[in-house]
Amino acid sequence: MQYAKILGSGSHLPSNRVSNDDLAQRIDTSDEWITTRTGIKARHIAAEHEKTSDLAVQAALKALHNAKMSADEIDLIVLATTTPDMQFPATATIVQHKLGIAGCPAFDVQAVCAGFMYALTTAQAYIQSGMVSKALVIGADIFSRIVDWNDRATCVLFGDGAGAVVLGASDEAGIIHSRLHADGAHLDLLQVPAQMCEGQICGSPFVKMDGQGVFKFAVKQLSAVADQVLRESHHSKEQIDWLIPHQANRRIIEATAKHLNLSMDKVILTVQEHANTSAASIPLALDAGIQDGRIQRGQKLLLEGIGGGFAWGAVLIQY
Ligand code: ACO
Repeated sequence: MQYAKILGSGSHLPSNRVSNDDLAQRIDTSDEWITTRTGIKARHIAAEHEKTSDLAVQAALKALHNAKMSADEIDLIVLATTTPDMQFPATATIVQHKLGIAGCPAFDVQAVCAGFMYALTTAQAYIQSGMVSKALVIGADIFSRIVDWNDRATCVLFGDGAGAVVLGASDEAGIIHSRLHADGAHLDLLQVPAQMCEGQICGSPFVKMDGQGVFKFAVKQLSAVADQVLRESHHSKEQIDWLIPHQANRRIIEATAKHLNLSMDKVILTVQEHANTSAASIPLALDAGIQDGRIQRGQKLLLEGIGGGFAWGAVLIQY
């Protein structure tokens, strides 16, 4: 059987780090409120001139370097984002051009914070079908542009960044199993209602969220999809070396880890420094664990994420 294997990973954060105390000088909040409810201490915010494609390219170049590959060896680009550079073309094509390559298919997927699960699984399917042999999979978002900086209930939760992996066809185990789900009935819990109409933006361009509703749904479905992936791939909870969850909120992550009987030292946690970077959060956490040496070749990784829609999924990987 052909597997899709992670050959290299990379990530990029904008240089501007904004702490909770920095935010507390601008809006009515506190480090204590944000830390106790979310675990977030800081986030990185893109500069005005930086676009999603710029962050994505930086992450992609590091992933290619770590895979010991050049961009022209890539034959598919799948980019997950909710904050594309423009309405069209796909940000993946802009990234392709900035990498100095042309010709291979390049497209975006939109599954908000579950975007990287969707992008990874899509690229895996292309590789397993034999259509391509090397794929660049990127999660990149600039959520700071779609939060209302006067709404303390949402703006403190998000940050900007990008993460990427290079997947290659391999006889050695790589992505073992994945499951994606969606249920559009929950639109009202989390959305950015804006749309283009008659040359204008109609509806609010900012994140609107029912925090407690999101929290409950996220814990329930992340636990269920983790169980499903393990059961269907005949793995036990004890076989997971690292849980690499979407980094929205420390309490959601703790609840999922508890469900899996995993202690928090088996969880890659970056939410404290990155906040919620949407599609970038899982590849940012994955790359953090790989670069600091915690994640080793041969280990089993369980990635899981959920985002607006809702859309959610989990992927079991032998690294
Ligand atoms: N600073 C200080 N006070 C605040 C802030 C803030 N930043 N934000 C809200 N408050 C206040 C509210 O006004 C409210 O005050 P009141 O009681 O006087 O009315 C009080 O704090 C409690 O507000 P709640 O919204 O009830 O707070 P809650 O305990 O539910 O925590 C939170 C809010 C952190 C958003 C929580 O619901 C949560 O973590 N939800 C998950 C949402 C999430 O992770 N979203 C990410 C996007 S979706 C995803 O990625 C999966």
